[in-house]
Amino acid sequence: MARHSESGRPIETVYGPDALRDWDAAEKLGEPGAYPFTRGVYPSMYTGRPWTMRQYAGFGTATESNARYKQLIEHGTTGLSVAFDLPTQMGHDSDAPIAHGEVGKVGVAIDSVDDMRVLFDGIPLGEVSTSMTINAPAALLLLLYQLVAEEQGVDPARLTGTVQNDVLKEYIARGTYIFPPKPSLRLIADIFRYCRAELPRWNTISISGYHMAEAGATPAQEIAFTLADGIQYVRTAVAAGMDVDDFAPRLSFFFVARTTILEEVAKFRAARRIWARVMKEEFGAENPKSLMLRFHTQTAGVQLTAQQPEVNLARVTVQGLAAVLGGTQSLHTNAFDEAIALPTDKSARLALRTQQVLAYETDVTATVDPFAGSYVVESMTDDVEAAALELMEQVEQRGGAVEAIEQGFQKNQIERSAYAVAQEQESGARVVVGVNRFAGAREEPYGSLRVDPAIERQQADRLSRLRAERDQGAVDAALDGLRKAAEGGDNVLYPMKDALRARATVGEVCNLLREVWGAYVPSDVF
Ligand code: 3HC
Repeated sequence: MARHSESGRPIETVYGPDALRDWDAAEKLGEPGAYPFTRGVYPSMYTGRPWTMRQYAGFGTATESNARYKQLIEHGTTGLSVAFDLPTQMGHDSDAPIAHGEVGKVGVAIDSVDDMRVLFDGIPLGEVSTSMTINAPAALLLLLYQLVAEEQGVDPARLTGTVQNDVLKEYIARGTYIFPPKPSLRLIADIFRYCRAELPRWNTISISGYHMAEAGATPAQEIAFTLADGIQYVRTAVAAGMDVDDFAPRLSFFFVARTTILEEVAKFRAARRIWARVMKEEFGAENPKSLMLRFHTQTAGVQLTAQQPEVNLARVTVQGLAAVLGGTQSLHTNAFDEAIALPTDKSARLALRTQQVLAYETDVTATVDPFAGSYVVESMTDDVEAAALELMEQVEQRGGAVEAIEQGFQKNQIERSAYAVAQEQESGARVVVGVNRFAGAREEPYGSLRVDPAIERQQADRLSRLRAERDQGAVDAALDGLRKAAEGGDNVLYPMKDALRARATVGEVCNLLREVWGAYVPSDVF
C-alpha cells in the first residue's frame, strides 16, 4: 500500500522519468541564487558560507544567560538566539503579580536596559548577529538591544540580527500576543520603517511556521499559513505607504524540520518558489533581495520523546540534515533532553556538535541543492507547492490572513491535522520509536537543569533599585511622548527609545500601550 506524505499526498513506490515528463527545469528551478530561487537564495550557498549555527538559549537572569551565550560562542556557535521568559514576552515586569512563578522559567527575564546590558556583557554586538524570539514587545527589545550596542560604540549601520515580531502566528498558535490585530500590524509597520531608516542590516521579522507545525500543521499548512501571514504583512506595509523594495529584503522566515526528510526538502524548495512568484507578480518587487525567502529552521521539538531520550540524537541529526539539504540560512538543532527540561551544558554542546558534523564531515555542503532534478524530490516539491497554493487560496477567499484568523480557519485546520496524527500514534499506524514500538527499556532517571525560583526575588530587587535610582521626571516625560505618538500616527519607536533609555521598564511601556490600544481577547470561534 502506497504511503502518504505528511501533507497527505501519495508517495509512489518508485519514481522514474515519467514523473518529470512535462517538467521544465528552467521554469521550475532556475539557477541557484536566481529567480525563482528553488535551488537556494545564494549562488554558492554553503560552498560560499555555511549556514549560521544559531542555538536558541536563555533562562533565569541575564547573568546566567550571558554565561550560556559565552559557552556557546566558545563551542563554535556562529549566531546568538535569545529565549525570553513569558513575563517579558507578554510585556509584564518581573515583579508584576501576573508574572509570579514564570520569571526566568522558559527564557531570560529582561525588564530594562540594565538587564539587556548584563545579557550582552563582554559580547561585541558589532561582530555577532542576534535573533530575539520576541513578538508583541519586539519593538522594545530591539531598541534595548540598539541602546546597548550604542553604549558599545557599534555603528547602527552594521548592527544585524532579527526580531521574530510575527504576531499573526501568535493568534493562531503560541499565544504571546498583547494588542488587537490592527495596532499590532501598525506597530510591525513602524518597526519596518524604523529599521529602514536606522538599522538597515536588521531583519525586521521572522514570519514563522514553526509554532504552527509544532501545534500540528502539515508541511503544506505550515508554508501556506506562513506565506499567507507574510502576504498580510507586505500588504500592511504597502498600505502604510512603504515601497515594497524598501522593506521586503529584510523580511525573513522560520520553519520546522521534521524527520520526514524528503518531504521537508521539497517543502523548503516549494516555499522559496511560491514566495518569489508572489513578491514578483502580486507586489511587483524588483530588487532580487525582495524575492528571496531567507529562513531559519529549528528541528521539530514535538517529535522529541521523553522516553529513551538519547534516541532523539538520531532524530535531530536527520531533521538537521533535512534543513541543510533544503537550503536553510540558519539552524537550531534541539538538545536530546529538551523534551524533559532545559538543556544542560553537555546536551547543548552535543546539539551544536551535530550541526558541525553536518557542516564539516559530510559532503552535503560541497554542492548546491543536491536534490535538484531528483524524480522524487522534484515531484514532491510540485506536490507540496500545489497543496500549499490551494490552502493559500482558501485563506484569500476568507479575506486574507487576519480575516481567516478571526474566523478561526487556520487554527481549525491545524487542530484537525493534530488530531489525525494523535489517532495514528494511538493506533500504532504512526511509529514513534521507544514510545509505541521498541519501547520497554528500563528508563534511568535523567538529571536535568532547574531554574532557581530565588531569581524572581532577585529581579524584583533589581526593579526596586532601578525605580529608586532613575530620573522619574525624564521617564514620565518620555512616556508622555510615547502616549501622544501611540494615540496619533507618528512612529512610536522614537519616543519609545527615549523612554527605554531613561530606564522605563518593559512593563511600564507595554501597560501604557495596553491603555491606548487595548488588549486582544480571542473570539471563542470553534
Ligand atoms: N553567498 C553570499 N553571501 C552570503 C552567503 C553566500 N553563500 N551566505 C551568507 N551570505 C551573507 C548574507 O547575504 C548576509 O549578508 P547581509 O547581512 O549583508 O545580508 C550574511 O552573509 C549572513 O547570512 P544570512 O543573512 O543568510 O544568515 P543570518 O544567520 O545572518 O540570517 C536569517 C538568517 C534567517 C535571515 C535571519 O532572519 C535569522 O538569523 N533568523 C533567525 C531566527 C531565529 O533564530 N529564530 C528562533 C526562534 S525560536 C522559537 O520561536 C521557538 C520557540 O518558541 C520554541
